[in-house]
Amino acid sequence: STVNDIAAKSVRTLPDAQTVTHVHHWTDRLFSFRVTRPKSLRFRSGEFVMIGLPDENGKPILRAYSIASPSWDEELEFYSIKVPDGPLTSRLQHIKPGDQIILRPKPVGTLVLDALLPGKRLWFLATGTGIAPFASLMRDPETYEKYDQVIMMHTCREAAELEYGRQLVESLPDDPLIGEFVGDKLKYYPTTTREQFHHMGRITDNLRSGKVFQDLGLSPMNAADDRAMVCGSLAFNLDVKAILEEFGLREGANSDPKEYVVEKAFVGDGI
Ligand code: FAD
Ligand code: A2P
Repeated sequence: STVNDIAAKSVRTLPDAQTVTHVHHWTDRLFSFRVTRPKSLRFRSGEFVMIGLPDENGKPILRAYSIASPSWDEELEFYSIKVPDGPLTSRLQHIKPGDQIILRPKPVGTLVLDALLPGKRLWFLATGTGIAPFASLMRDPETYEKYDQVIMMHTCREAAELEYGRQLVESLPDDPLIGEFVGDKLKYYPTTTREQFHHMGRITDNLRSGKVFQDLGLSPMNAADDRAMVCGSLAFNLDVKAILEEFGLREGANSDPKEYVVEKAFVGDGI
């Protein structure tokens, strides 16, 4: 009969509600969480969905989120920024296990294996939360069935922002479900740009100078062998595209597979 009871009931009866099962805060600006997966939801690793919370009037605030878990996982994982005044994330950062979020079960996106022609090496190039789609693809057996080597380059300003990705990558070889597929195929190249770290520099600079190839003992990229997926700010994506094109790679799409694909990690402020 109270306003709170009515609000609680309206949340419970939200269409597309899913229940939060885990939350982990990585820094004051980054957290990850897991939710129940709708039985009917099928998606391809690397795709995104719309998720959200109701506002104070019960109207959904929805935003695009990459699914960070692989398609075989029985739950869904997300990796999120906390924007202090962000309409969604100023609320979403407070979710706890047992809470409900809205999840529209219509996965879409370009960062899928089907959008690339066959190749030998697959490069994942991400800044910030742009690692989320690759957290999914790095846990998909198909990634390792299709490629001899998978290289995850992730760059953030500070080392603490790399931690979600580092712990995920380091857990994979011993993972009971995916470990045998990963084997020694996955190479990890994390860098910082604004804090001292064992490897530093922008992805663009490390590709252009050839430093990443030297450090990993790999030959430079070429259009015959290399495929790439890119996910960061608009400015990052544009700068990486220019470099991939210099190596001879061409942009593909679901309907027209080629050598690389790109998706924005977020909209705004990028350029
Ligand atoms: P908004 O009003 O949406 O954003 C406010 C401002 O915050 C933006 O203008 C931008 O400058 C900045 N911002 C927003 N998102 C980010 C970000 N991720 N990193 C750095 N700065 C940002 N966000 C995630 O955290 N994880 C994801 O997996 C994710 N996947 C996305 C996939 C796609 C295809 C797109 C288009 C966006 C994705 N986003 C993701 C961004 C997400 O949709 C929201 O923008 C974000 O959750 C912030 O929502 P908000 O309402 O709090 O603020
Ligand atoms: P830098 O510190 O040199 O700007 P942000 O936190 O601004 O979203 O950036 C995330 C990471 O992406 C930072 O390490 C940043 O490096 C890097 N970055 C930002 N813009 C570009 C770009 N246009 N090309 C390459 N790297 C970029």
